[in-house]
This record gives sequence, C-alpha cells and structure tokens, in this order.
Amino acid sequence: MAQVRGLQCVRCGASYPADHYARDCPACRPVARSNLMLAYDPAMLAPRPRPAADAGSGLWRYGDLLPVSAAEAVSLGEGGSPLHRFDRAGGLVGLANWLGKDETRNPTWSFKDRLACLAVSSAKRMGARVIVSSSSGNAGAAAAAYAAKAGLRCVIFTFKGTSGPMLTQMRAYGATVVACENKDDRWKLMEHAVRHYGWFPTSPFFGPVVGSNPYGIEGYKTLAYEIAEQLQWMVPDWCVLPVCYGDALLGMWRGFEDMMALGWTDRMPRMVAAETYGSIGAALAEGGDALPDMRKNYETVAVSIGATRGTYQALDIVRRSGGTALTVGNAEMMRWQQILAEQEGLFVEPASAASLAAVERLALDGRIAPSQTVVSLLTASGLKDPATTAAQQQDLLPVPANFEAAVALLTASKIFPDQPRTAQGTCA
Ligand SMILES: Cc1ncc(COP(=O)(O)O)c(C=O)c1O
Ligand SMILES: [Zn+2]
Repeated sequence: MAQVRGLQCVRCGASYPADHYARDCPACRPVARSNLMLAYDPAMLAPRPRPAADAGSGLWRYGDLLPVSAAEAVSLGEGGSPLHRFDRAGGLVGLANWLGKDETRNPTWSFKDRLACLAVSSAKRMGARVIVSSSSGNAGAAAAAYAAKAGLRCVIFTFKGTSGPMLTQMRAYGATVVACENKDDRWKLMEHAVRHYGWFPTSPFFGPVVGSNPYGIEGYKTLAYEIAEQLQWMVPDWCVLPVCYGDALLGMWRGFEDMMALGWTDRMPRMVAAETYGSIGAALAEGGDALPDMRKNYETVAVSIGATRGTYQALDIVRRSGGTALTVGNAEMMRWQQILAEQEGLFVEPASAASLAAVERLALDGRIAPSQTVVSLLTASGLKDPATTAAQQQDLLPVPANFEAAVALLTASKIFPDQPRTAQGTCA
C-alpha cells in the first residue's frame, strides 16, 4: 500500500489534507474549477524492480502503488482484463498494431469497477456509512456492487434516459435509485447529502463537474500498468478513450507517470479523448483552461458519455500528452460497434465504440502512422444498452414449424445453400 500524504490540485498544485476529497480547488475557482488528486510519500516512486511473476493478479497485482492495502480492499476480482490485437479491424484502417483493452470483463461489466473498488475501499477505511453516486449507468452499477460487498448502503441519483438494464443492475445490488427529472437537479440533492449527512461520493456530486473522487481515480492507474506489462513494458504511442469527465484519462496518465519514475518504462503515450458534444475540443481550440458548456444540438446514442461540458482534468491530460480530442457522432459509433462485434468478436457499448471511431479518423488523416501502437479502451459491455443496438438490427426471420416449409424458406432466404455438400467438403 502507498502512503497518502494529502491531496493536490490538478491545475495549480496547491496542497490539501487527505480528507478534503469532497471539494474542488478553491484557489482555482475564479479561472477554472479543478479536481484534486492524491499525493503520496515520495518513497513510493523510488526506482524498483517490475512486479514479479508471483505478485498476484488483477488490480491488486499493483497494490503497492494504491492507497488501500489488498487486505483492506473491497474486491470482486476487478482488473487483469485482456488486451486484444485487432488484426482484422486494424486492416480496415491501415494499422498494424491496434489493440483493445477489454474492460467488459470486469465484475459489473465496465471499467468503472476499478474506480468503485478504490473509492468504496477508501470509504470503508474512513468509516463512511453510505455511498452516493450520480450515474447514467456504469458508475452507479459499479458503486452499488462494491457497496453491497462492503455492507454499505448505496444511493444513486440518475436521470431520464438511463438505460433500462443498467437501472435494473443498480437495483439488483440493492441500491436505492433516485430518478431526477433533469440532469442538473442531481447536484443540489447530492451536495446536500454529502455536506449534511456525510455520505461518501464516489462520483461527481456538484456542478460544474470537476471529476470523480480522487481515491477512486487511483484505480485507473492500473489500466496503464496492465497495458505496459501486457506489451512487455512497452508504452503505446496512443491511448484512445471515450471521455466524459476524464477520470480514466487522468488515472491512466498518472499510471504511466508512475512507471517512468519507477524505472519500469521510458516514455509517455499521447492521450486522445473521444467525446460526444465537443467541449474538450472547443477548449483546446480556444487555448484557455475553462471548459465551455456546449449546445446540445442532437441526442447522442452514447448516454454514458453524454455530458455537454468537459473537465479541466481531461483537457490538461490531452494537452500535456500532445494528444487531441475528437467529437464522435452516432453513425460512426454504431458502425464501429458493429465492426468490432463482427470482425473481432467483441460486443461493446456504443460509448465504448467512440474510442474506435476516433482511431479510424486519426489513422485516415495520417495523424496515427501505420506502424504506431494504438490502444483503444473498451469501457463497457454492449449488454449494458442492448436496445440502442437492437434498434439498428433487421427483424428476425420467423421460421414455420413445418420442417419442409422451414427448409424451403431458409433456402429461398440464402441461409441454407442451394446444393448439398459434396463428398469432400462442406457448404458455406
Ligand atoms: C462506458 C463508458 N465509457 C466511458 C465513460 C467516460 O469515463 P470518464 O468519465 O472517466 O471520462 C463512461 C462514464 O462516464 C462510461 O460509462
Ligand atoms: Zn488549484
């Protein structure tokens, strides 16, 4: 376990005590609201050998670099997700080294388990009694599952438009789900609960949003450690993420920074934000530190990343890493969701497919060179929001009960071949 010294502003570096996690940085408020991140005892980053083969598996393989000990952790077997090589999808966009980190394999089928694991473990350690989260789905489902495992009460504030399966999932874990009429109504109620009742927020809980709980964000560092280790300690040229508040963007970047300090790796990746309404991209073009609240001129299919305003923490990482932000539309996301499923056998949420559509554009524009290594973060399973995908699919073919009639129909529909197989082989 790493010793926490306190918190530090992402933007100005001002220091705050370790229990100041439910605040932003007051010093930065006049310019841009900014999140805080954990600061550790410098001994944590003294150079040391890479983890040994028997150091354990999953997220806790890197437990020495996390703010909770493995013994105190509320764990459901998170992390350790596969890194798949996209040979066929890569061929479509001329990339020889395109990979996908498959976060659909986590306990609640999304990358948010890394955040919830660290946030809820920290909450339990600090003696919190109630976990509170605002969520369009994945963050709430993860918070609810880990709260259940910790034996803590969980209240989730959500809003109209949340996917049915995710609502069911949150409630299945025993969380109380409150549906707000408008997205912004959540903040007042949550801030009240955090300030007046001492509930522990794992997610943003006031607006404008600065990001999620700093203890939770530490869970995302393990994405960077795992990717580097899976690539034999090579750092990819590009990491491309579907981004809403940029918690994973910041967490992964911090993981790559740790590995440089530890002497495990020797360079940093470029970080790309795939977003829906373009707030980070607009701030990049503008050049300042404030994030504009964009006009919502259409309804995105990617509800999980549907915020109209980005965060400073996301902007900062994209800028510092020499990356970029791309606004991804519905048609591209749905097309890439289908390509990934059909060509690579992976069914991801529409929001996750934003990290593929962005790569296509960067590859076709020549910004990503054909031989560069690119990792797309596949944040959640397609079964989180199946209705959006089903709406794109053709009707099923009803087959009659009569055998002869069924064969005739299947043959006429070209599902069965016209000819029986030859002695040597099979028919396609
Ligand atoms: C499936 C999915 N992808 C991406 C994101 C964006 O994550 P972040 O807020 O860390 O940018 C979220 C949640 O916000 C999500 O649920
Ligand atoms: Zn500050």
